[in-house]
Amino acid sequence: MQRVDLEIEDIAFGGAGVGRLNGKTIFVPLTIDGERITARVVREKKQFAEAELEEVVDAAPRRAQPACPYFGRCGGCSYQHISYEHQLELKHRQVEQILRRIGGIAHPPMQPIIPSPKPYGYRNRVTVHAEDGVIGYYRRNAHRLIDVACCPIADPEVNRALAELRSRNPRNGHYTLRANEGPRVFAQTNDEVAQAMALLVTQLLRDGDELLIDAYCGAGFFAKRLINRFDRVLGIEWDRHAIAAAQRTAIAKETYIAGDVDEAFAAQMARCDPARTTVIVDPPAAGLGVRTRRALLDRPPHTLVYVSCDPATLARDIRELQQQFELLSVTPLDMFPQTAEIECVAHLKAKPDV
Ligand SMILES: C[S@@+](CC[C@H](N)C(=O)[O-])C[C@H]1O[C@@H](n2cnc3c(N)ncnc32)[C@H](O)[C@@H]1O
Repeated sequence: MQRVDLEIEDIAFGGAGVGRLNGKTIFVPLTIDGERITARVVREKKQFAEAELEEVVDAAPRRAQPACPYFGRCGGCSYQHISYEHQLELKHRQVEQILRRIGGIAHPPMQPIIPSPKPYGYRNRVTVHAEDGVIGYYRRNAHRLIDVACCPIADPEVNRALAELRSRNPRNGHYTLRANEGPRVFAQTNDEVAQAMALLVTQLLRDGDELLIDAYCGAGFFAKRLINRFDRVLGIEWDRHAIAAAQRTAIAKETYIAGDVDEAFAAQMARCDPARTTVIVDPPAAGLGVRTRRALLDRPPHTLVYVSCDPATLARDIRELQQQFELLSVTPLDMFPQTAEIECVAHLKAKPDV
């Protein structure tokens, strides 16, 4: 395959460095903007090519020493070779670019990114896979496992659980290892950034609303923290174990519905006074379902807070929601340092009736 000399201009969402050769974009993982490198093209498409780094000819000053011996081979992290400060700059810029490109927003109302107090040792749970004595994660670009004795982005408690799992020669399968006891339902992965996110959402809300609808509520992460700000809260979530966990500690003004948001949300919106309702949505990476988007456009709640783990689907959804909502702010949060993933909180307000 062809060897190329490149100057890396940027880092795309997903983590690969971006270079250009004869007008064609070439993506090279494990590089940094500002570097001169040589790479080997491994996949050639009409519009772009993918290449593997061979040598860093001129290293960027932001190049850092990875803390993990598996970095580069393991599929989990993409950014350990980049200083933490520059990771934050990149993620902020990537969100802004995606909102422009996919969301069609000329001037995205970006707020500063909220960093993780712990750049390593922050993950309160990991899922490892065991296959024929190999216990670890999938390799970068391959459906094969890499044997992992210790994961530096995981909490020390999780690493103790990993050592214990490895010592008992587990059967083939998937194992989720956790730092905290608690119900086996979705929980935010980085405790400190999750707390910062909850505080941010609290600050975005206005007082005096009657109802909070927490859609994709899990075990009520937002609903339970915000209960004092509303006359009643309603959570919707399809994981029955999460709903049961939410119900266990519910007080009279909390209601939780087990079901598909795309089916249940519209009926709840139809029953409420949108002018006195706040909606929080925290969907999976696929973003909002079509019927949920339509329900928001049919009866726009006064305040909409969109918590997203995928800036591309966030931008797609905001593009449509702008028919009825004004986008007030977007705050990226670094929930997943060393990886290419980005969490965002977008604050939208219903446009006044015309
Ligand atoms: C990103 S998590 C957020 C959970 C919660 N807000 C939290 O912070 O813990 C997304 C949640 O949506 C749920 N979910 C995904 N698709 C759904 C759907 N179509 N209807 C209802 N719940 C859904 C998942 O089970 C998961 O609990």
